[in-house]
Amino acid sequence: MVTQPSRTPLATEHLVGSLTLEEKASLLSGRDFWHTQGVERDGVAIPAVMVTDGPHGLRKQAEGGDHLGLGSSVPATCFPTASALGSTWDPDLLTRVGAALGLETRAADVAVLLGPGANIKRDPRCGRNFEYLSEDPVLSGDLAAALIRGIQSQGVGASLKHFAVNNQESDRMRVSAEVDERALREIYLASFERAVTRSDPWTVMCSYNKVNGTYASQHRFLLTQVLREEWGWDGLVVSDWGAVRDRVAALEAGLDLEMPSSGGRTDADVVAAVRAGTLDEAVVDGAVRNFLRLVDRTVDAVEAPATFDVDAHHALAREAAAAAAVLLRNEPVDGAPLLPLATDGAGVVVLGEFARTPRYQGAGSSLVNPTRLDTALDALRAAVGDDVPFAPGFTIPEGREVAGAGAATDADSLLAEAVALADGAGTVLLFLGLPAVDESEGYDRTTIALPDAQLRVLEAVAAVNPRVVVVLAGGGAVSVAEWQQHAPAVLETWLGGQAAGSAVVDVLTGAVAPSGRLAETIPVRLRDVPAWGAFPGAFGTVGYGESILVGYRWYDTRDLAVAYPFGHGLGYTTFAIDEVTAVARGAGSDATVDVSARVTNTGDRAGAEVVQVYVGDPDAVVARPERELKAFAKVALEPGESRIVSFSLDSRALAFWHPVLHRWSVEGGAFVVSVGRSSRDLAASVRIEVDGDDVALPLSRMSTISELLANDVAGPVVQPMVDGLEPELRSMADDMPAVVLVDFGMAGFDAATLDAVVERANAARA
Ligand code: BGC
Repeated sequence: MVTQPSRTPLATEHLVGSLTLEEKASLLSGRDFWHTQGVERDGVAIPAVMVTDGPHGLRKQAEGGDHLGLGSSVPATCFPTASALGSTWDPDLLTRVGAALGLETRAADVAVLLGPGANIKRDPRCGRNFEYLSEDPVLSGDLAAALIRGIQSQGVGASLKHFAVNNQESDRMRVSAEVDERALREIYLASFERAVTRSDPWTVMCSYNKVNGTYASQHRFLLTQVLREEWGWDGLVVSDWGAVRDRVAALEAGLDLEMPSSGGRTDADVVAAVRAGTLDEAVVDGAVRNFLRLVDRTVDAVEAPATFDVDAHHALAREAAAAAAVLLRNEPVDGAPLLPLATDGAGVVVLGEFARTPRYQGAGSSLVNPTRLDTALDALRAAVGDDVPFAPGFTIPEGREVAGAGAATDADSLLAEAVALADGAGTVLLFLGLPAVDESEGYDRTTIALPDAQLRVLEAVAAVNPRVVVVLAGGGAVSVAEWQQHAPAVLETWLGGQAAGSAVVDVLTGAVAPSGRLAETIPVRLRDVPAWGAFPGAFGTVGYGESILVGYRWYDTRDLAVAYPFGHGLGYTTFAIDEVTAVARGAGSDATVDVSARVTNTGDRAGAEVVQVYVGDPDAVVARPERELKAFAKVALEPGESRIVSFSLDSRALAFWHPVLHRWSVEGGAFVVSVGRSSRDLAASVRIEVDGDDVALPLSRMSTISELLANDVAGPVVQPMVDGLEPELRSMADDMPAVVLVDFGMAGFDAATLDAVVERANAARA
């Protein structure tokens, strides 16, 4: 159900006209941590609205408030975190999860849920990657849009965050992300653009950081030019909590609502600026209109009573967590893969503290107080029998350092106990993962390795039993290259929410076929990552020198080895993709490409394949990634079943952001359309020819000879200047500004004549 605005535009205008300046300013900042201010007086009734975190579950604090997850909140379903939801590659499922989140929001009388996050996972060390969906803007944007559509279908608003270029937690409140225009448009904004234009979030939250020197909260280019003027969005921009440094500058730039409360201090700044004539009251009125639109959009839903089915939402959380699990490897041992487990579970032992103390969500403002919590150990015992033996193997450190002789002794005895249990067991399920202290909002990781204590257990266990299945939990990618030879099967489960324990057992037993795919590359080594050496910056800035080569774009373009590529994930069946076709139509910004492929379940179990469409521009005037994801579809198939999947790509799938003309440009020529199962496992590639836009810059007297030669009007005029030159001289001349050769007297005409030719050439192109 989507509520329609209950107040007419006329009534809004009347209201804006009848509010005092002080009242209008007050509407644009918080009353407390989670409420906006209202106005109640003769003839005016504007309710305060409540907003709360967060992306994977409601965190409504009963009283008072903080934004660090310290204060407890009312119980709510803890759905899988974004790193898990991203790995489902399933927009329909995410819309259902969004609808459940929206219903819980509504049932709690809350108007806006503060999520989802659409920041790109630039580096696996970002402490908040568990709150983000992918390293790829198409996947991230489409999945964020799906969540938003679901949330808002319940009549409450979503808040797409953190806009923009907030890709690290280190120094997040001050750091300036120094990013070039192409990377900004093609990677970092593209994720938000897809989400905004495909789902119309009712609010967008600006980030804390600066972008190229300007705080996001005061960034007119981002908040007004891009968001509203280019993307046509009409929602409310809310600050991240405490992100406003200069309220008047922020308002002028397009930030509507400052959160949380400033105790009236910054409201007074706004009033004073209007009275002093330094701030146009029309700016305040515009923000008030945006605020009233949000109230109008949400008021009916918040006022209508609602309840939700706790069991049904838990079941949905379980379904989503199972769909998110990525089977990284499943090598045969004694002729057969270890997974799925034999149905009776005979001989299975469970090791690893995470099996009974699950890691299922991240720390910080997104911390949910779950309605219940499943553990894998309980779920496995329920599935295959109470007698499944268990040993913790290691302790999960609670602080960032654990040390001391006592800890070492404990570690030795825990390890010995685990090895004893593994020795002679049929199959060992070893639950490893990142301790909660390793990843959180507010700080980054410094390593992507699993803790040594856990790797020692793995090595010792593998020495006595080769049948080891590692089940990983964690909000970000961990390196596997140094240890995976000890584990023929590895299942990455991310932070799967409150039902993660039962969901992982569904996958291990084969009750649910694994269908998750990596939404982020797993590198071989931390030092291979694109931002190595730059992340997280120093002295208040962080350089984005890798530019557009983020995630798999980096590894594939540089042909670097990876542990597991973007898009990778195994199932319990096999698939074939064939009959790949790609047909281009139209030209330039009107170009479209129709792609289709047949996918067949060639194994003997049901399963789902994610068909991925990549596009590359092998011969481009600018540097372009080897290939980029442009579309995908998750297809569930019975054994032997085939389906044709079709995709319609628009010109953006071919375009790059022209950094001088400042617009999307399709360069004419060949493109390679590939369809496959990961960025490295391509079933087929089709070469297409597309007529492009004119991507050349306007000509001038400083244009080079080769640039002028490429032009129909100027070419014939400058051709005689280079006719007959020796090859070396010709190469040199081609790259020289024409006016220099004219000044050398090589043209037989003067610079004024050159200017006239250039003018004619530009006029002919216009
Ligand atoms: C976080 C936001 C969150 C807000 C409110 C901030 O610290 O960055 O994501 O929505 O707090 O808790």
